[in-house]
Amino acid sequence: MSTTYKIVTINGSPRGAKSSTGAFLKAVVSGLRKRIDIETYELDLSKYKVSFCRGCSNCFETGKCPLDLQDDMPELKKMILMADVLLIGTPIYAGNITAQMKLLLDRMSYWMHLMCLCGKPTALLTSSCGNGANFVKTYLSSAVKFMGGREVSFQNYLVFTENDVQEVENVQRTEEMVADIIGALNDPTHIGERERKDLDYIFHSMQKNMKLYEEEPNFEYRFWKHNGFFEFESYMDVIMNSERIISDFGGTL
Ligand SMILES: Cc1cc2nc3c(=O)[nH]c(=O)nc-3n(C[C@H](O)[C@H](O)[C@H](O)COP(=O)(O)O)c2cc1C
Repeated sequence: MSTTYKIVTINGSPRGAKSSTGAFLKAVVSGLRKRIDIETYELDLSKYKVSFCRGCSNCFETGKCPLDLQDDMPELKKMILMADVLLIGTPIYAGNITAQMKLLLDRMSYWMHLMCLCGKPTALLTSSCGNGANFVKTYLSSAVKFMGGREVSFQNYLVFTENDVQEVENVQRTEEMVADIIGALNDPTHIGERERKDLDYIFHSMQKNMKLYEEEPNFEYRFWKHNGFFEFESYMDVIMNSERIISDFGGTL
């Protein structure tokens, strides 16, 4: 029986249908569709209402954000959690991710203490005129790692005119990204040596940190305890137990 993979794309561009980032995300999805069975879900952040984080820290303490009652974050978080593959795309603005993408990540800050992406293959895609890609890659890689995701590909697409969306090097970038994602799906526990070290370091430092809440357990501590994270020895344990972790928590994140 063949597997159908849920591919969730997130586009941080404000330009909706005109977005080159959106065009590249679509190209990757179309490349994947030629090779594997997929269902796709496009999260175009320009179409969602996401309020600014107000810094109340409720999410860290209770796992609940009061703003979730008034905007589209619950829907976005639900889709991200259910993805088999996450494609995160953003144009580069002023040498960084767009405000739309940062807003989403700010509201997901508490996930950076939970490792709740649990080994999810995550591809990072930027679209720019060439300035700031290294900085953005470092930032997005780190955010994804802290959420427990497994970064499987990065491409910075260069766009100077609208025609560049079809430019041969950009087409090659898409092909490379598709190949990286297929490779990651075929080998779900593979992590490069450097990446595994980073992820183990994050896992162990977070484990130490969380233990400090033993006396007065907050949401994060309870999440770790409930999922057996204190008994895990490495990030690999997180990956090996990923299905149990997400399903046991009932999608309430
Ligand atoms: C306000 C603004 C700021 C930008 N800043 C940068 C930048 O710092 N570095 C860069 O390489 N490109 C920059 N660009 C170019 C965009 O990253 C590029 O056009 C991108 O392909 C747009 O993607 P989109 O069509 O998906 O919105 C900027 C564009 C705009 C509109």
